[in-house]
Amino acid sequence: MEKTFIMLKPDAVQRGLVGQIISRFESKGCKLVGMKLIKVNRDVAEQHYAEHKGKSFFEPTVNYIMSSPVVAMVWEGKNVVVIARELMGATNPVSANPGTIRGAYGMDISRNIIHGSDSEVSAKREIALYFQPGEILEYPKAGEEWLSE
Ligand code: TYD
Ligand code: MG
Repeated sequence: MEKTFIMLKPDAVQRGLVGQIISRFESKGCKLVGMKLIKVNRDVAEQHYAEHKGKSFFEPTVNYIMSSPVVAMVWEGKNVVVIARELMGATNPVSANPGTIRGAYGMDISRNIIHGSDSEVSAKREIALYFQPGEILEYPKAGEEWLSE
């Protein structure tokens, strides 16, 4: 089953938005298969944003995700990578639809609440960066049979 990596960034934790954001994923029908509260180190932060190395926002973004604890999660479901990106909304909260997480809770691109993998390939890489295989759990979830055929 498809999986995606989601991080609730330091601003989400500090502003007390963790529960509300997790609720959106649960209500949508996504299945939580991994979760931990962690402080990201520089090595992991730089690997996380490696595709942006050399860009003006690389250093500030790396420093930001290291600045305070984050919630690292793996969610599972049919098409969950795209579904999670839709729940999150546009990168810049200024233009994100207010019905989305970034649109509802954010004010600025440099503090945009949440990270989500942008493809299945990125998801595999990011999950491996933050989780050991044994930390991803397989279990039957009540109601799964009502989400799709
Ligand atoms: P990006 O991968 O383009 O966005 P997304 O998180 O939606 O996949 O950029 C990674 C993060 O870098 C983004 O969440 C916030 C930060 N960022 C800036 O601070 N300024 C910018 O101009 C961009 C493009 C991103
Ligand atoms: Mg990205």
